Parts: sequence; structure tokens; C-alpha cells
Amino acid sequence: MNEISVPRPNSLDAFWMPFSDNRYFKGDTSRMLARAEGMSYFTPEGREILDGTAGLWCCNAGHGRREITEAIQRQAAILDFAPTFQLGHPIAFEAAARVAELTPEGLDRVFFTNSGSESADTALKIALAYHKARGEGTRVRLIGRERGYHGVGFGGMSVGGIGPNRKQFGALLPYVDHLPHTHGLKENLFARGQPQHGATLADALENLVALHGAETIAAVMVEPVAGSTGVLVPPVGYLQRLREICDRHGILLIFDEVITGFGRLGTHFGAERLGVTPDIMTMAKGLTNAAVPMGAVAVRNGIYDAIVDAAGPGIEFFHGYTYSGHPLAAAAAIATLELHKTEDLPGRARAIEPYWQEAVHSLRDAPNVIDTRDIGLIGGIELAPRPGKPGARATAVFRRCFDAGVLVRVTGDIVALSPPLIVERPHVDRIIGTLAEAIRAEAA
Ligand SMILES: Cc1ncc(COP(=O)(O)O)c(C=O)c1O
Repeated sequence: MNEISVPRPNSLDAFWMPFSDNRYFKGDTSRMLARAEGMSYFTPEGREILDGTAGLWCCNAGHGRREITEAIQRQAAILDFAPTFQLGHPIAFEAAARVAELTPEGLDRVFFTNSGSESADTALKIALAYHKARGEGTRVRLIGRERGYHGVGFGGMSVGGIGPNRKQFGALLPYVDHLPHTHGLKENLFARGQPQHGATLADALENLVALHGAETIAAVMVEPVAGSTGVLVPPVGYLQRLREICDRHGILLIFDEVITGFGRLGTHFGAERLGVTPDIMTMAKGLTNAAVPMGAVAVRNGIYDAIVDAAGPGIEFFHGYTYSGHPLAAAAAIATLELHKTEDLPGRARAIEPYWQEAVHSLRDAPNVIDTRDIGLIGGIELAPRPGKPGARATAVFRRCFDAGVLVRVTGDIVALSPPLIVERPHVDRIIGTLAEAIRAEAA
């Protein structure tokens, strides 16, 4: 192991770590990461940790990609920052055009943000502004889904359906309702790819329409495949049914593609793989390979037109971030999307998917495994919780894997896997082999 020369912090006190057990981490700093390259992280001591999660579902092209790093360096030397409020710089327009090349046909207008959370809130605001622009200002209700994750802004959090993420924060947004999640049908256990049962769960949207009136509902936002809540793959026909109901009632359908975008399902976006085109889609993470934070929202051209055409002279949409279209992020996005093209990263994901699927489902006989599921380069392994200690078993498995040199992600008692799309068979073997050993070691 080669120790890596990075400055060591004198104190861990100041950094309030997000979504973390700060007290545990600061008492045991063995999970520091100092460097990354290709499929792996390296600790400050130089220990390799194989990345089974693409960071946080982000680094789809693998780590430390020279092409992206150099594009950022070049751009920093040319133009460090310029506002995009009433001004422009060429690279932001170019980045938007590159995104629009990949989005489904007709979703060619792209609004830049800095994160998935900002993308979610931006999408919801666009939906509200759209209806208002068309004289349907009564459409203010936003529908999410139980167990949905749309980041941590007030919009995304309210429409999101993960209890612990909401309960510390008061009343949240009014006029929000939720569909049932699609998980838990016994017939769907150990499904390979999309499960067969549960399309009719989408009909709950009709019930909400009956309850609230279609004229009050602006949009429905769902993840095509829910990731943060532990890999919930949509049943065959479910998203199609949601689409039909939205169309019937003039409701906008928003796909949160923050993790399903940029090759994760073997296509540019989940919409393509799952055969349903939304009106609005959010993205982030894989857009820049996470080398510089950036998010985006792509909308149907008619949505942009409606908002822009309805406005009087001057600003049309009173929303934006200082860093919308930031030059370094735009440079990183262009370089990343170029890699997607030249290396056909979605094609690589498709090619290894059958091997990945076999490997994920090989865990079904490991002790306490109560479900395995997959789609694209995503795997979910659900463990039986320890009595009275939800999440404890999976957390122990996560720590064991890390100590054995493999990074996995856990949420509750579900292990969620999402390796970089450059993953190869020996990496898959190591990720799954290490996980199997850790699950066996935590059998008690
Ligand atoms: C579907 C989805 N939406 C939104 C977000 C929030 O993204 P960010 O953490 O960049 O704000 C995430 C993050 O995991 C996500 O998975």
C-alpha cells in the first residue's frame, strides 16, 4: 500500500457531515477516502476500496477521468465564472444542447441547477408556472409517491415519501399527496428486471383525482426506478398507466432521473428503457460524472413555450441559481457526455447487465436475504432486519465490506449496488463475493 500524501485534518469538529452518524464517524475515522481512479477509491493509507456504488450513483464513467479533469482545468483558465442572469457564456449553451441531444425527442429545453435537490424543486416550480401561464392557476397540488426521494429542498422533501427525511422539518409544503409505493408484493420477490405484478397500483392516481379534482393537480413526480429508498423497480406497465392517467387529466408527469439518467439502465435515460416519456425530467449526478456539481431539468418544448410566451416583456420565469450553467460544470458535462458517446457507456452497461443480474441474484440463498432485485446496473439485496434493530444488520454488512475493500451502500436493511458503468466481470465477482461473505458473517 502506498500512503497518499494528502493534508490530514487536525480536527473533525467543524465539518457537520450530511446524512451521517457524525458521532460514530468522528470516533472511528477508518472510512476516509483520499484518492480515486477507475473503479476504485483509495484511503489515505493507500488501501484500495472497489467502488460498488459509483460514489453516490454519480461517477458512471469511473473515477479520475483525465478527459473530464482536463476540460475543467482548461475552462478554469479561460473563464472561471460568469453570470447567466441576463448574460450568457457559450459553454453553458453548448452543454444544454448536448443534454438535449440525449433526452427524449421533444424535451429539448434545459434549465441548469447545481444538484438533484435543486432539480426537483425547479421541476415542481416549472409545473406550477406552466399551469398558471395557461390560465389553470388552480392546479397547485403536487403528487409524489411513498418512499420517493427527490432530495432535501422543501419541494422535493414534501413530495418525497421517506418518513425520516421529513419528520424533523415541520409542516412542509401544503397541497401535497402521495401514491402508494410499488414494493412488497409477494409475487414480485426475487424478480429479474421489472416485476410482473402491480401495474394497477398506478390507478391510485385516479383515486386522488376523484378526491381532489383534476383541476387542482399540477404534477406527479416519481423516480422511474426508486434508488435511495432501496431499489424499487417499477412493475411492467405501471409507468405507462401513470402516463395515461396524467394525459387523461392534464396532469404533468415528472420523472426524477437523478440516478437513472446517463446510462445507469443501459440507455441514456430511464424513460427510454422503460418506454414512457415524461413531460419534465430532472437529472444531476452522472451529468458531470460528479466532478463538478451540476443538475438539470429538461422540459417538453411546449412547456417552455407556454411559460415564455405568456410572460410580459422582461424575465419570464422568476427562478434560477447564481451557478446555473457554471462554466466549470458545463465543461465537465460536455466532457462527460462526450465520453458517454465515444465509449458507449450505456452500451457497456447493457452488455454486462446479464452477468450482473446473475451475480446479484446469486445472493438469494445467502442467510437472511429476503429479496434480490435488479435492473440495468442496479442491484438491491434486502436483508431480514435484526429483531428490534432495523438497519443494524445492513450497517454491519456495509462496515464489513468496507474493511474487506469494497464500497456498498445501505439504506435501512437493503444493500443497494450501482457500480460505475465501466465495471468488468472480475469487479462484479469481487463486489458480490465480498458482499456474500459479509452477509454470511452477519448471519447471527
Ligand atoms: C432520485 C433522486 N432525486 C434527487 C436526489 C438529490 O440529489 P442531490 O443530493 O444532488 O441534491 C437524489 C440523490 O440521491 C436522487 O436519488
